[in-house]
Amino acid sequence: MPEGGKPMTYVVTENCIRCKHTDCVAVCPVDCFYVGEAMLVIDPDACIDCGVCEPECPAEAIKPDTEPGLEGWKALNAKYAALWPNIAARSEPPEDAAAWDGRADKLLDAFGTADPVAA
Ligand code: SF4
Ligand code: F3S
Repeated sequence: MPEGGKPMTYVVTENCIRCKHTDCVAVCPVDCFYVGEAMLVIDPDACIDCGVCEPECPAEAIKPDTEPGLEGWKALNAKYAALWPNIAARSEPPEDAAAWDGRADKLLDAFGTADPVAA
């Protein structure tokens, strides 16, 4: 546990949107991924911070929340983990996943806002 006693978690960030490779799901030991139409999220309360999903993501979309600037994405993950269904098995990514990799403004495009807290 990091300084301050606050549990850490891993979070899914913008580049998951419309890439959805789901390699992350296949390795999570506690099945704490949830799936929406455009992206996946991690339940911060269930994540045990093992870190094995981070290197599995071809889109490099999974980050530890100890990285600066991810507060909004942690909030987005927590919000949608409570609303979306659990996903515990890998599925085929969208056919155009490669075309979406690294594109700008994916959050705005998918959620209608550039602010993850407002998404
Ligand atoms: Fe699952 Fe571990 Fe990734 Fe957390 S860090 S989402 S427990 S694989
Ligand atoms: Fe998304 Fe990467 Fe998982 S693109 S679905 S976080 S493997």
